[in-house]
Amino acid sequence: MPFYHKLGKIPHKRHTIFKKPDGSLYYEQLFGTIGFDGMSSNLYHVYRPTQVKEISSKINVAPQIATANNIKSYRFHGFKVKPENDYLKSRTPILTNADCTIELAAPKKSTANYFYKNADADELIFIHKGTGKLRTHLGNLDFKYGDYLVIPRGIIYKIDFETEDNRLFIVESRRPIYTPKRYRNWFGQLLEHSPFCERDIRRPYELETNDEKGDFLMKIKKQNEVFDMIYATHPFDVVGYDGFNYPYALSIHDFEPITGRIHQPPPVHQTFETDAFVVCSFVPRLYDYHPESIPAPYNHSNIDSDEVLYYVDGDFMSRNDIEKGHISLHPAGIPHGPHPGAAERSIGKTKTEELAVMVDTFKPLQLTKQAMEIADETYHKSWLE
Ligand SMILES: [Fe+2]
Repeated sequence: MPFYHKLGKIPHKRHTIFKKPDGSLYYEQLFGTIGFDGMSSNLYHVYRPTQVKEISSKINVAPQIATANNIKSYRFHGFKVKPENDYLKSRTPILTNADCTIELAAPKKSTANYFYKNADADELIFIHKGTGKLRTHLGNLDFKYGDYLVIPRGIIYKIDFETEDNRLFIVESRRPIYTPKRYRNWFGQLLEHSPFCERDIRRPYELETNDEKGDFLMKIKKQNEVFDMIYATHPFDVVGYDGFNYPYALSIHDFEPITGRIHQPPPVHQTFETDAFVVCSFVPRLYDYHPESIPAPYNHSNIDSDEVLYYVDGDFMSRNDIEKGHISLHPAGIPHGPHPGAAERSIGKTKTEELAVMVDTFKPLQLTKQAMEIADETYHKSWLE
């Protein structure tokens, strides 16, 4: 995140002596991204963060592709993805390309006996259902319905849910996830026309510092394999850190919509960016106020990006027969637009309660085997009159 954060105890100067109460040294770790060029944080551990005891096993979790080259519009019934006890097993890849994988998950249990680290990708977790706490080696974040959790690659975490009724929409991104640059000044501060500001971005609090030796199972995802590694000390043993690289939360309910006299294009809804896809938030808002405006979108041809919409709540104005948890995929190469009757229906309406998350990828998405199990094979004909 492009602003400075500090938690716990740190020495006055980096790379200098920092002693524990018993007189021995804390172990410093620079935790950076993009070599030494990207965001980084400077951590101080009770124990060496390098003490691997065993690498016990690995499993391949690469998405299994059902359709590699797709030009068909689809609707997927996201809530048909079955709940699973285990958090990692619950993560079901639906759409994927070289840059990102879009997953659905309905985990029932917290990550009780392992820690998890994704070494391949930043993770964006949208909480559709569920409350709980994301626990990381850089501090904890409470979450609830409507939160985006942004977990940069390499953050070690556990996730605790309060109940068994949880629904997550996840994007794993091999490109770093940032907030849109055009909303930041040259110092990184969010500008006045940004739909959210620093107050809306929740940074980690409650640093857990465990001085504990033993056998600690860490599952590390790297190159689409999950390795089981046993560490000799508790992975949450940081006494303090500072820097710019940390997990954070932003609620979709804190996204302030930008509206106009006539229909505003999707970039006004943009919430996150990478160099391979964007993420937008469609939130309840007043409609366009030109006396002759048509609030529903016009047909548009996203010739070079695939559009994925995840429907969260409310009545989605441009679509017929769309429910919570549905995903629509409008692939690059063909135009899409409002369903028959939607444009007429929207005229004269003053506001919408729709809530949705959109992911537009710049490379085509492939459909997984699990996607086909929840796919509506007739959706592409739903514009026929
Ligand atoms: Fe669209």
